Amino acid sequence: MKYDFTTVYKRYGCGSGKWDEMQRENPNVGEDVIPFSVADMEFVEAPEIVEGLKAFLDTTVLGYANATDSYKEAVCAWMKRRHNWDAKPEWILPSHGVVDAFFSAIKCYTNEGDGVMLLTPVYYPMYIGIKVNNRVLVDCPLVERGDTYEIDFEDFEKKAKDPNTKLFILCSPHNPCGRVWTKEELERIGRICNENHVLVVDDEIHHDLIMPGHTHYVYASLSTEMEQNCLVLTAPSKTFNLAGLQTSNIFVPNEALRREMEAFLKRGSANPKCNILGYKACEIAYSSCGEWLDECIQVIDENRRVITEFMAENFPQIRVCELQATYLLWMDWNGLGLDYKELERINRQEAGLFYDEGYIFGAQGEGFERWNLACPTSYVVAALKRMKEAYGKYVK
Ligand SMILES: Cc1ncc(COP(=O)(O)O)c(C=O)c1O
Repeated sequence: MKYDFTTVYKRYGCGSGKWDEMQRENPNVGEDVIPFSVADMEFVEAPEIVEGLKAFLDTTVLGYANATDSYKEAVCAWMKRRHNWDAKPEWILPSHGVVDAFFSAIKCYTNEGDGVMLLTPVYYPMYIGIKVNNRVLVDCPLVERGDTYEIDFEDFEKKAKDPNTKLFILCSPHNPCGRVWTKEELERIGRICNENHVLVVDDEIHHDLIMPGHTHYVYASLSTEMEQNCLVLTAPSKTFNLAGLQTSNIFVPNEALRREMEAFLKRGSANPKCNILGYKACEIAYSSCGEWLDECIQVIDENRRVITEFMAENFPQIRVCELQATYLLWMDWNGLGLDYKELERINRQEAGLFYDEGYIFGAQGEGFERWNLACPTSYVVAALKRMKEAYGKYVK
């Protein structure tokens, strides 16, 4: 490997919620314990980003900043190179994060009482965005098929046809189920949403993290009709571990929808600027860090392989879902026959395993664990050893 994917900086006292929570819950965890919960990476940053930001700081001041032409061009060039998507710079509205962006979309394009569809289980802030804004959750449960999930299109279409349903938040690829939606599935979603005047808010924050053998399609790239009835939300934050810089992009190809969102954002803040270092880091990452990302995906895929083989050999009762994308491995531990709260207790208090517990993604997630694989493989191996020791007395 050209890059360093073995060093971990211990982030105690750095304001990392993930590390602080681990310390709070179990102050006695050993040296080789790192948290596998919140979706940021335990890899050191790509050196191009660190060096590029240092050079930038040496030659500028940190005043107000707009997205520059070179920033927007770098974003669009990445979309073309990595995703074969012809996005236009003028479609981009910078935002402070993807969660912020889908909260804005809910408020901008729907009214209180309107229905918002989700394919569940799903990234939990999507439920929150619907609830706190007094919209109605239109729950479309995914269907488990073998080691993966599928959309129940009959149910999805029935719910889209309800005149109260106004918006669908698509998580593509899907967190936590790890699905890359196929071209056919996306086209079917597109046909149903367009026929029923349901606007698609397409969260593609994980779309650069596609595992070998899978192909991701940007929703808007599949037809003009789909492009004109969607917002695409992207960010370099998962891909290059830049979440703390709070920089993301809302692509709105449809001009009328874009004007509406621009006006909405201006109503929310007279000066909706973003973070100058975030813009710069994003531009550097999209321009120079493709090779770092390719290596990063190899490490994630290796971690998946190590865990999957270990579970098959030692805990065949645990079902490891297929990881088609993201660095978040979704596992069904119900086969161990332990209550989901007991699993949480054993993991955190006895095994030193700090996952995102499946129930936070919805009731279907009870008894599931989501393992963040963006960390050096040695920490995964150490965690599996602890798991074997801790569960020996619970599992026959
Ligand atoms: C699907 C999805 N959307 C959005 C986010 C967070 O986005 P941001 O940090 O840009 O608000 C995450 C983080 O895990 C995510 O998984």
